[in-house]
Amino acid sequence: MTVLVTGGAGYIGSHTTLLLLESGYEVIVFDSFCNASPESIRRVEKLTGKNVNLIEGDIRKRDDLKKVFSVHKVDAVIHFAGLKAVGESVEQPLRYYENNVCGTVQLCEVMAEHGCKSIVFSSSATVYGDPHTTPIKEDFPLYATNPYGRSKLMVEEMLRDVYVSDSEWKVVLLRYFNPVGAHESGQIGEDPSGIPNNLMPFIAQTAVGKREKLSIFGDDYDTHDGTGVRDYIHVVDLAEGHLKALEKIASLNGVLTVNLGTGQGYSVLDMVSAFEKASGKKVPYEIAPRRSGDIAKCYADPGYAREVLGWEAKKSINEMCEDTWRWQRKNPNGYTEIS
Ligand code: NAD
Ligand code: UFG
Repeated sequence: MTVLVTGGAGYIGSHTTLLLLESGYEVIVFDSFCNASPESIRRVEKLTGKNVNLIEGDIRKRDDLKKVFSVHKVDAVIHFAGLKAVGESVEQPLRYYENNVCGTVQLCEVMAEHGCKSIVFSSSATVYGDPHTTPIKEDFPLYATNPYGRSKLMVEEMLRDVYVSDSEWKVVLLRYFNPVGAHESGQIGEDPSGIPNNLMPFIAQTAVGKREKLSIFGDDYDTHDGTGVRDYIHVVDLAEGHLKALEKIASLNGVLTVNLGTGQGYSVLDMVSAFEKASGKKVPYEIAPRRSGDIAKCYADPGYAREVLGWEAKKSINEMCEDTWRWQRKNPNGYTEIS
């Protein structure tokens, strides 16, 4: 089976590509490298001893996509390609809609033209907005609070409409909670450009001495210690969820929407102390004002994923921190040093 992985050189895409190769899939990675380095895929090839067909291209450009589909018979697409920084999306909404929404329109059109109608899409827990209660189930009301989140919601709705118009489409919408960690080899991991927006890379860069201290955004939330609670999920568990989605897609009728989370919520302070334990390093921090748009608690009900995909997250918070630390220690500057 040949799988096209858009955004496959990125953080989640590279880990998924590795597992796909290990499971015997033929993989084509399609990436513009706007937020990634081809070095990630070179390392995946080294780790697996297999070749990846790596194609530089942009999902917004039909010709780039056509070149792939006219040469290869693609059976299914895992669609990671997208921009993902919430703050940036508020400043540059049109760029986000163009890339995430218009890019997906182009992708689906070219797929349909070539008879490929199976897609696994990277959605996000952000589509639940500020949920009325936790844990979050797939049938909770959907609501986006920023252009990034709205772009995910729009694509979800668009893919549902595409299926309604043509029942040959098979669509899996995977709503990720908070992906963290790295491959246990320490060879591939998250490589944010500039100052990290997300908690785990910020903690890791503080522990390695690249940042002076972590700012904890608020300690007065209604949570067990006042700091924000999230469902952190190891990126390798998340990648496995995509393989389960691919196994399911052949027998699927319609659109399947699934949360990928652990079901366990950890606070910012829980993450700091878990990371200190795993790394043996101190993570200096200060309490700062709340970050605009943040919510108190967000964690998944993972029951439906277990039921329909036979998938559940296995890796502990300790493994998430140890693997992040190994990656950070071995690659203090991410992929840039040698790419
Ligand atoms: P990432 O930035 O590491 O990976 C995205 C990849 O897509 C990058 O390699 C980038 O170069 C590529 N890309 C972007 N626009 C492109 C375009 N127009 N054409 C071709 N390639 C393009 O991000 P990630 O963390 O691996 O996230 C993957 C997907 O999962 C994204 O769609 C993201 O929105 C979604 N997601 C991520 C998180 C998270 O916290 N990491 C949470 C929920 C959902
Ligand atoms: N936090 C800090 N200091 C930091 C960074 C984060 O205290 O420097 C706190 C936040 O306030 C929040 C928690 O750490 O309580 C997690 O924040 P992240 O930025 O790591 O993650 P978010 O839950 O805000 O958002 C992430 C992705 C979104 C995605 C969402 C749900 O960035 O794109 O998970 O999947 F939509």
